[in-house]
Amino acid sequence: MRVRGTIRVPGDKSLSHRALLFAAMARGTSHIGGLLTSLDARSSARVLRQLGAEISPLGAGRMVTVTGRGRLRRPAAVLNCGNSGTTTRLMLGLLAGHSFRASLTGDASLRRRPMRRVTAPLAQMGATIYEQNDTGTLPLAIKGGVLAALRHEMPVSSAQIKGCLLLAGVVGGVPVSVREPHGRSRDHTERLLRAFGYQVDEAQEWVHFRPTGQVVPFDMQVPGDPSSAAFPVAAAILAEGGELRLGGVCVNPTRIGFLSVLERMGARVDQEGVEPAFDEPVGDLVARPAALRATEVLPGEIPGLIDEVPMLACLATRASGTTIFREVGELRVKESDRLALIAGNIRAVGGTAEIHGDDLHVTGGDRPPVGKVVTEGDHRIAMAFAVLGTVPGAKIRVDDMACAAVSYPEFPAMLRAIRG
Ligand code: S3P
Repeated sequence: MRVRGTIRVPGDKSLSHRALLFAAMARGTSHIGGLLTSLDARSSARVLRQLGAEISPLGAGRMVTVTGRGRLRRPAAVLNCGNSGTTTRLMLGLLAGHSFRASLTGDASLRRRPMRRVTAPLAQMGATIYEQNDTGTLPLAIKGGVLAALRHEMPVSSAQIKGCLLLAGVVGGVPVSVREPHGRSRDHTERLLRAFGYQVDEAQEWVHFRPTGQVVPFDMQVPGDPSSAAFPVAAAILAEGGELRLGGVCVNPTRIGFLSVLERMGARVDQEGVEPAFDEPVGDLVARPAALRATEVLPGEIPGLIDEVPMLACLATRASGTTIFREVGELRVKESDRLALIAGNIRAVGGTAEIHGDDLHVTGGDRPPVGKVVTEGDHRIAMAFAVLGTVPGAKIRVDDMACAAVSYPEFPAMLRAIRG
């Protein structure tokens, strides 16, 4: 296929969750434009409404108003976080500073994901955690209260853990220091906190937070999601001709590691007109077809492209040579066991992929991919293989495309629209 035109990708998922949470913590009314309307964003909105925030309906192109009360209210029912790990983990941080008991659950995928990575440090700060099973997964309950300062070495570099613990510092009014062992994960929470006057310093692997600020009502425009942008960008790279522009994408350096990897693979994606908007750099991405070659993705790069590994691995099936993704074990605890699904599905469509310990090896080739893809309801697996299915001669059947609505409801329409 050829590509053409200018598109907008949906609002950034990480920023949408955080905008809703911060607005719910403020006393008064905030206005959020460009907010993601996907199922994950709806999970955060639903749970925050249960906790007393007034949030206007989420809808494409709508400005969302959020009226917070400064503190959350005891919920009348269990908080269902759907498919969203970010909703769960950030919410646990907020709840740790409130003295009522709240129960959280989620869908089958979320109920398999590890929560002790946040509940253990929250318990250390003074929250009480009630696990319903001995696996450290949802459903669980939390009763917060008076919190103590925390100094914590995280087992993995994770923005969900970091964000959770920094938010606990905000509601608890206590200093929090966290160490990220394998490179910096996305820093949206830190940027927002600084905007509200909090002191957040980064020194080597540590992030140090001091409760010097105050969360007040704000107006914000959420930029496009670079993780969603990765799919049309990849479709343009795989295309036979044309050019695709993506307007208003968040190009925060902690989010665009995939662009550096693409450049090493021979596909330069231009960033144009980058300007700061509410403490995040935002600009256009321009992508074109390219012949790809293999690369090695190092452990320190992984946090900056964690959500883009499925798409990069699919691109690696079209590159000359063997691409190696080092230390991607964290993919096992995403919305699915992404490591197993990426490798299994690449093989299912006739490609070559192997898992060696925590490394993923993908060898490229020219044969059109043909076969059936199993998503286990994982949105990024579905979208990555749907994009691979645009290669000439490809015949890929994705077992569930509806799950794209978790982060990118307009994905199928976008894929049709960019064909030139
Ligand atoms: C997110 C952090 C990432 C990412 C997820 C969203 C966030 O997870 O996979 O889609 O908004 O904080 P980790 O950084 O916890 O691995």
